[in-house]
Amino acid sequence: MKVKKAVITAAGLGTRFLPATKIVPKPMLPVFDKPTIQYIMEEINDAGISDVAIIISPNSTDIKRHFSEYPLLEKNLKETGKKELYDIAMKTRSFGNITYVVQEKPTGLADAVLCAESFAGGEPFALLMGDEIYDYSSVKTSCLKKLINEYDETGASQVNTINVFGDDVSKYGNLDAEYEGGRLKVKNIIEKPSLSEAFSNLGSVGRYVLSPKVFDYIKSTRPETSSGEVYLTDALKALAENDGLYACEFDEKRYDIGDKAGYIEANVDFALKNEKIKEELKDYLKSLSEKL
Ligand code: G1P
Repeated sequence: MKVKKAVITAAGLGTRFLPATKIVPKPMLPVFDKPTIQYIMEEINDAGISDVAIIISPNSTDIKRHFSEYPLLEKNLKETGKKELYDIAMKTRSFGNITYVVQEKPTGLADAVLCAESFAGGEPFALLMGDEIYDYSSVKTSCLKKLINEYDETGASQVNTINVFGDDVSKYGNLDAEYEGGRLKVKNIIEKPSLSEAFSNLGSVGRYVLSPKVFDYIKSTRPETSSGEVYLTDALKALAENDGLYACEFDEKRYDIGDKAGYIEANVDFALKNEKIKEELKDYLKSLSEKL
C-alpha cells in the first residue's frame, strides 16, 4: 500500500527548553523566520503528502492557529498591498488536510504515536518528530522521500539512521543492522543504551515510515518499569522481528531543535540562506570568530 499520510509528534512538554517552551510549544520555536513545524510541514508536502495528523498537547493551540486563517492580518496585508507578506501569511494555511489529535497526558512517544491510530486507518504512514528539521535543499531526494520510496519497494517499515560516537550513542535508539541485498536490515533495536549495551554506532533518528502493525505492537509492549512509559523503540523491535524493518542513511543535514546548540546552529544556517541579511550576518560571524 502506498504511503499517503504523515504524523508529526508535537505534544512534548519541551522541558529542555524552559522557560521558552512554557507556553509556546517547542515545534513553534522559530528557526530564523519560520516556526520549526512549518519546515516539517513543507518537508511532508515536498515528499508528496498532504494528509497530516499533528499530535498536540492540550495547551498547544498555537500550532493549530498557525496553520489556520487569521482574517485581521490577511485583510490588513491585502488592503495595504503587501503582496509578498500576504502570500507568506496565506501559505501557512495551504498545507493540505490537517487533523489535530490531543495527547491528554505526556506519556511518551509510543503513546503519542498511538493517538494517530484512527487517522492512519490501517494504512502505512510517515512519522516525523516535531523537534527535528532536515535541510534537503542541496540533495536530490529528501530522507523522507527516500524512506517512502523504500517502503513502497520493500513493503517493510523504515527508520532514518546516523552514525553516532562516544557519549552520543546513549542519546538515540541504537540499531543492530546488517546489509542484505544493498539495504540495511534491522535485527534488533534498543532505546538509548549505555555504551556497553549498544549494538553499533548506528543511531535511529526522527523520520520513519511505519506499517500500521506498529499500533498493535505498541499496545502489546510492556511499559518500562521505572517510568511507566512504553518506548516506541520496543514496538519497532517487534516490527523488526516479525515484519521487517530497514534503516536508511541520508545525506542532508539534520538539526535537533530540542538541543540548545542544535537550535542555534539551525538559526545561523537558515539565516545565512537569506539574501537580504546574509552578508551582514557573515561580517558579524567573521568578526566574532576573531574574538573566539
Ligand atoms: C526519540 C526516540 C529515540 C530517537 C530520538 C531521536 O528520543 O525515542 O529512539 O533516537 O528521538 O530522533 P527523544 O530524543 O525524543 O528522547
